[in-house]
Amino acid sequence: MRILYAASEAQPVAASGGLADVAGSLPKALAEEGHEAAVVLPLYVNTIAQKWREQMTYVTNFYVPVGWRSQYCGLFTANINGVTYYFLDNEYYFKRDYGLYGYYDDAERYAFFSRAVLEMLTVIDFKPQVINSNDWQCALIPVYYHMFYEHHHKLWGIKHVFTIHNIQYQGRYGMELLEQVLGIPRHFASLMEYDRDINFMKAAIEVADKVTTVSPTYAREIFDPWFSHGLDRALKDKAYKTCGFLNGIDTDMYNPQTDPVIPANFSASRRSGKKVCKEKLLEEVGLPQGDEPVLGMISRLVEHKGFDLVKYVFDDIINLGFKVIILGSGEPQYEQFFNEMRWRYPDKVAFTCGYVPDLAKRIYAGADMFLMPSKSEPCGLAQMISLRYGTIPIVRSTGGLADSIIDCGNENGTGYTFQSYNAHDMLGAINRAKDHYWDKKEWNKLIVRAMKADFSWSQSAKLYIGLYRELCPED
Ligand code: GLC
Repeated sequence: MRILYAASEAQPVAASGGLADVAGSLPKALAEEGHEAAVVLPLYVNTIAQKWREQMTYVTNFYVPVGWRSQYCGLFTANINGVTYYFLDNEYYFKRDYGLYGYYDDAERYAFFSRAVLEMLTVIDFKPQVINSNDWQCALIPVYYHMFYEHHHKLWGIKHVFTIHNIQYQGRYGMELLEQVLGIPRHFASLMEYDRDINFMKAAIEVADKVTTVSPTYAREIFDPWFSHGLDRALKDKAYKTCGFLNGIDTDMYNPQTDPVIPANFSASRRSGKKVCKEKLLEEVGLPQGDEPVLGMISRLVEHKGFDLVKYVFDDIINLGFKVIILGSGEPQYEQFFNEMRWRYPDKVAFTCGYVPDLAKRIYAGADMFLMPSKSEPCGLAQMISLRYGTIPIVRSTGGLADSIIDCGNENGTGYTFQSYNAHDMLGAINRAKDHYWDKKEWNKLIVRAMKADFSWSQSAKLYIGLYRELCPED
């Protein structure tokens, strides 16, 4: 099949979160299954490394309607990991000084990008059968298609899958943007409107042929107001076209047997390297050596990742005999808290504020357990990466965490889970993990089971293909 995967970020060229991992690895898996999968991204001038920029070749340029204006768009292409990437260039929108998002004109930047993706298809030779658009930044692709392109002779018959990676970020803006900025005629106002605002995600949910999310459990959860951030009413009668497939991870990128940035390589059958990784990790973060269990956390430090729970029982975790290594940045209250804990427990706590990808891998490899007590977690990748590096996840059973981690209360368990969003339930799971840890024989068996769990893309890629085929049965 021919698929165009539209995203606002993709590994390895531009990344800020889990979406980039998926956009970097799912199309690669589709290509490996013999399909023609292309990726389209904004050409973020200051973010994309020179190494990738040098591989791009110029294809053509065209103009894109944005409200009443017409904006230049350059088209570049490159082959990355066997997948064709298209990059849409406009320095006014995508040459920015810091980060990918968070600018006053994000609505306009991604409206431009979305419309440019469709304009691109009017000038190049590639006609996808399906466009899979991701998150609010690309939500206007199916919407603009529905409004302006479905009768275009080169775009006729394209089907649209819209994937929600996190329903919290919906692309909500004032109604005044409708005509001038987004170029959407008044008579489409009701399609765009939700709770008196423009809502990109709601419009995509309306018009897409299929709506997917990144785990089966999250696909159910988003119909519940506790998880939906207001969108459950928009989804209410769309259950017939909504489903969830669990993400995979790039098993080449996360491979303890070959990973060049960890101090020693290891595998399920030869695990001595993992011990070396633990020693070196303690050394790197400045903690004393010792056999106590090391609990790792790598995350944005925001409330919905469960940091209020961690804060509440942090002293108890230390009293259970853990060393805790945290990597991440986010809300000042949590950054301050972990700085404080580092001073209070200099031999037990290490905190690196920021995001250091190589250190992240060394934590995955060197820790004994990995804590993810998220309030909600559409899929979550860190728990799968931890398993691959033989580090046992302790997770709250929600979204993709519920779908990927089997509690050790079961024979084939791979981690520890707790149900309600409650600090002492979390502490209970941590305590169970600790007891298991000191039973070395059983713990080693658990590590082997964890490392053998298969979260490669091959399974999920087949599910996506099945869905795409369902939309285009005659091709
Ligand atoms: C978002 C979600 C995360 C998911 C990722 C990739 O970042 O919050 O749970 O794993 O997207 O789909």
